[in-house]
Amino acid sequence: MSAHGTPVPMTARPAGPLTGTAEVPGDKSISHRALILGALSVGETRITGLLEGQDVLDTAKAMRAFGAEVTDHGGGEWSVHGVGVGGFAEPDTVIDCGNSGTGVRLIMGAMATSPITATFTGDASLNKRPMARVTDPLALFGAQAVGRAGGRLPMTIVGAAEPVPVRYTTPVPSAQVKSAVLLAGLNAPGQTVVIETEATRDHTERMLAGFGAEITVEDSDEGRVITLTGQPELRPQEIAVPRDPSSAAFPVCAALIVPGSDVLVPGIGLNPTRAGLFTTLREMGADLTYENEREEGGEPVADLRARYSPDMTGIAVPPERAASMIDEYPILSVVAANATGRTEMRGVKELRVKESDRIEAMATGLRANGVTVEDGADWWIVEGQGPGTVAGGATAATHLDHRIAMSFLILGMAAQNPVSVDDAGPIATSFPIFEGLMAQLGAQIERRDRAA
Ligand code: S3P
Repeated sequence: MSAHGTPVPMTARPAGPLTGTAEVPGDKSISHRALILGALSVGETRITGLLEGQDVLDTAKAMRAFGAEVTDHGGGEWSVHGVGVGGFAEPDTVIDCGNSGTGVRLIMGAMATSPITATFTGDASLNKRPMARVTDPLALFGAQAVGRAGGRLPMTIVGAAEPVPVRYTTPVPSAQVKSAVLLAGLNAPGQTVVIETEATRDHTERMLAGFGAEITVEDSDEGRVITLTGQPELRPQEIAVPRDPSSAAFPVCAALIVPGSDVLVPGIGLNPTRAGLFTTLREMGADLTYENEREEGGEPVADLRARYSPDMTGIAVPPERAASMIDEYPILSVVAANATGRTEMRGVKELRVKESDRIEAMATGLRANGVTVEDGADWWIVEGQGPGTVAGGATAATHLDHRIAMSFLILGMAAQNPVSVDDAGPIATSFPIFEGLMAQLGAQIERRDRAA
């Protein structure tokens, strides 16, 4: 099933070369944060380049339910009239975050230190995902959570009327958990401290500083120590959202494995907490270059140029790099299947609790398409036989997971036979223009009649 309707089966056929320019949409992580921090500041925040994927649209709707005025001016330009830290109103409807773990976890954090109650739900994928990782630290502030067994949505959060600041070490490497705690800390008096032993994406920290919060980050023996002073008055900002490296990954990887390809993906954010895939691809021997490197809005940005790379070899991806490419393992496994030799991906337990169990979903679909994959609790290994050796011909189940859907369609572009997915609908959560953009580069993707 797609996130919001009937399944959309799709097939990608071997075709190519892929050539031209791929203008991918705005960064999903930064888009959620721009809306939420805009809603927590006093005055009007202007946002350009907002990702208008379903996940972010659901967050925009939620911010309205909490009292912010959110306006779509067209063409990726949005404004948010915020209510200020501690100014959230109590929503009179259930907050439906659709497919978005980031949306629900960050919003829970943002409301947990206000004296209001809100009930959250999501689609079948989100309602299976663990929320205790967020509600455990929110309880330390004084918030209460009542949900389904195993800390699953639907769930009601009763915000703390008299929140206390917390000091919290994140038990899993998760930017969502870190961000939920920091957003809750905004309305607690005094200093809230979050310690992470592995660095995860730092967009919340950067954006909080941009909105005028007092926030410091120090590396210590304990890890990365982030200290936020509560109850600031956040100043509205002009935010230009950079293009999403996690979306760029799809046309980049497609170009590397489809013979003769040469694709330019301009204006991609290369924040080191996000760019692990590109480092890994270059280590595998990918012809991937950074052109026109520059700084935009405090983030390193470059135009990525990817050319067909028939000489790529498998590598052992360093486990300590996992957080900086956590969403990119599915598409990396597709590249690995077209490289020569073993690609080992270890220290990736978190992949099992994403929009789907991504190790299981990719391993099953890759095997069905003729690729040898081994997997364990927190690792998997793909045996690549070299360019053009993937048989294809099978249909993969996408389990309401956009990145699984896009990964298998790209597998089909470089396989010997077409590869199908049972439901490409979820692609709209993060990359609504994927189908048209890939077709423009020369890919052959078809929607299939389900009866066919
Ligand atoms: C995100 C954090 C990551 C990532 C997700 C976006 C964010 O999740 O997988 O797509 O914007 O904070 P975790 O925090 O669960 O690692």
